[in-house]
Amino acid sequence: MTTFRPVQRADLPVLLQMSRENMSSIIQSSWGMQWQDEPVLEWLTDKSMVTEVAESDGEVVGYYCLEMADRYLFITSIQVGRSHQGQGLGGTMMERIEALARERGLEGVELCVQETNQRARTFYLELGYQPIWRKGSNVMMRKRLP
Ligand SMILES: CC(C)(COP(=O)(O)OP(=O)(O)OC[C@H]1O[C@@H](n2cnc3c(N)ncnc32)[C@H](O)[C@@H]1OP(=O)(O)O)[C@@H](O)C(=O)NCCC(=O)NCCS
Repeated sequence: MTTFRPVQRADLPVLLQMSRENMSSIIQSSWGMQWQDEPVLEWLTDKSMVTEVAESDGEVVGYYCLEMADRYLFITSIQVGRSHQGQGLGGTMMERIEALARERGLEGVELCVQETNQRARTFYLELGYQPIWRKGSNVMMRKRLP
């Protein structure tokens, strides 16, 4: 069973490793940049953000970081560990995020995805997110909640 809880300091090495494994090739192909832990570390420790980790059998299997952007909840990061992808966890996390946006009376959810991240783009499109803006290799997507 997967459970969710707020991030703790002890989670940081696992979350950084997960982010690096998932994103370094995408960052390289989108921006031609080497992976750096620092920006991720900054938002994981930012108290103004909502960061929750998903655990399954005592193992951290994913996380998301959220921030308020105007009338929308913005997904700063969403990551599922490599060996746990494609099993529905990402969908469950998006449901939780949308429920949180509704609870807070927000109009919807927004995020940015790299154009080269085809899998994530398909994932968001299938969940009803629409591209609203594009700059360089970044695509901003939005879902308005009924
Ligand atoms: C994008 C991500 C969060 C999705 O989470 P997930 O747990 O793998 O997704 P789910 O298992 O809930 O799958 C939902 C949908 O994603 C797509 N998907 C899942 N596995 C896939 C695969 N191997 N290949 C292509 N699409 C796939 C499918 O559309 C799937 O729909 P379906 O269940 O009807 O087939 C996850 O793959 C991930 O962490 N990727 C690396 C990090 C990343 O890119 N984060 C987003 C940055 S913007």
